[in-house]
Amino acid sequence: MNRALRIHAYGGPDAVKVDNIAMPAAASGEVVVHVKAAGINGLDWKIRDGWLQNDFPLPLPATLGVELAGEVIEVGAGVSGFVIGDRVMGPVGGIGAYADFIAVASNMLVKTPASLTDERAAAIPVGALTAWQALFEAGELKRGQTVLIHGAAGGVGSFAVQFARRAGARVIATAQGINAGYLRGLGADEVIDYRTSSFWERTRDIDLVLDLVGGSALANSWQVITDAGRIVSTAAPDIAAHTPAGKHGIWFQMRPDAAQLAEIVSLVDQGAVKVEVSEVARLSDAAAAIERNKTGHGPGKAVILFQ
Ligand SMILES: NC(=O)c1ccc[n+]([C@@H]2O[C@H](COP(=O)([O-])OP(=O)(O)OC[C@H]3O[C@@H](n4cnc5c(N)ncnc54)[C@H](OP(=O)(O)O)[C@@H]3O)[C@@H](O)[C@H]2O)c1
Repeated sequence: MNRALRIHAYGGPDAVKVDNIAMPAAASGEVVVHVKAAGINGLDWKIRDGWLQNDFPLPLPATLGVELAGEVIEVGAGVSGFVIGDRVMGPVGGIGAYADFIAVASNMLVKTPASLTDERAAAIPVGALTAWQALFEAGELKRGQTVLIHGAAGGVGSFAVQFARRAGARVIATAQGINAGYLRGLGADEVIDYRTSSFWERTRDIDLVLDLVGGSALANSWQVITDAGRIVSTAAPDIAAHTPAGKHGIWFQMRPDAAQLAEIVSLVDQGAVKVEVSEVARLSDAAAAIERNKTGHGPGKAVILFQ
């Protein structure tokens, strides 16, 4: 049996169904993974609701889910570095991770260290790769600079705070006040409660804004960056259209990168980077858990358990 969380039509939480689908087979360069846990992302409900249907039309029904942790059960031709029984984790380079079994390009994946449960492993790939690439590639963050991270307590932000601090940046985070202690524990120098304070009245001379929220958080950020500063957004694909003259605004999209992921996972394995799982949802509650990502949740990242 291969249970999959699929949509047959765009819509709200009711559009997500648990279906039995055919077992995949490993094509050349692929492995089949028995999925044990999969991370929940905003992309799940953005796809489900049909937000992206014009830019990325999907053949329906479509299986949701963009990252996983599990075990290799079949190895395709030309795959090196993985054998049956290996525990693996990674983004899937598209969608389809919310199923018991999926065929994935092996070059997206890394081995899961023994120190990591599948739940924690599934909470890492997309959030951590997004944070790393947005800060250091798109954002060009350097030691001694100041970064303002909006949405810092979530799946991407929790890694971004830690990576920026490790790189020697001063880290200012916006989040609900209830998450201030959590974020200080991850290395934030200052936490601003977005519900009770106006960050633009309390910050200036910011070298980099990492915008994980969009909307008014982004709109109010142009005034706090330096002349050479930049805003990198993972939440506002139309940032270019709203970038004031003379300012530098960048839309950023994560790309799978197994070498980078292996480096990050090694830091987690050593205890140098923490992973926070906010919720472990069962398959029966998965549709509601995807919806909860839209409306707010505890610190860190929610995952779906496929066991
Ligand atoms: N472009 C890409 O490649 C890419 C990759 C990954 C993610 N994303 C997108 O990036 C965004 C963040 O992803 P994520 O996985 O980190 O999401 P997440 O886990 O849902 O975290 C978002 C955080 O933002 C907080 N928040 C909401 N409104 C806020 C505001 N006005 N000011 C400050 N914080 C606020 C939320 O806290 P509360 O619960 O307290 O409201 C939540 O902790 C999502 O839109 C996601 O779809 C894009």
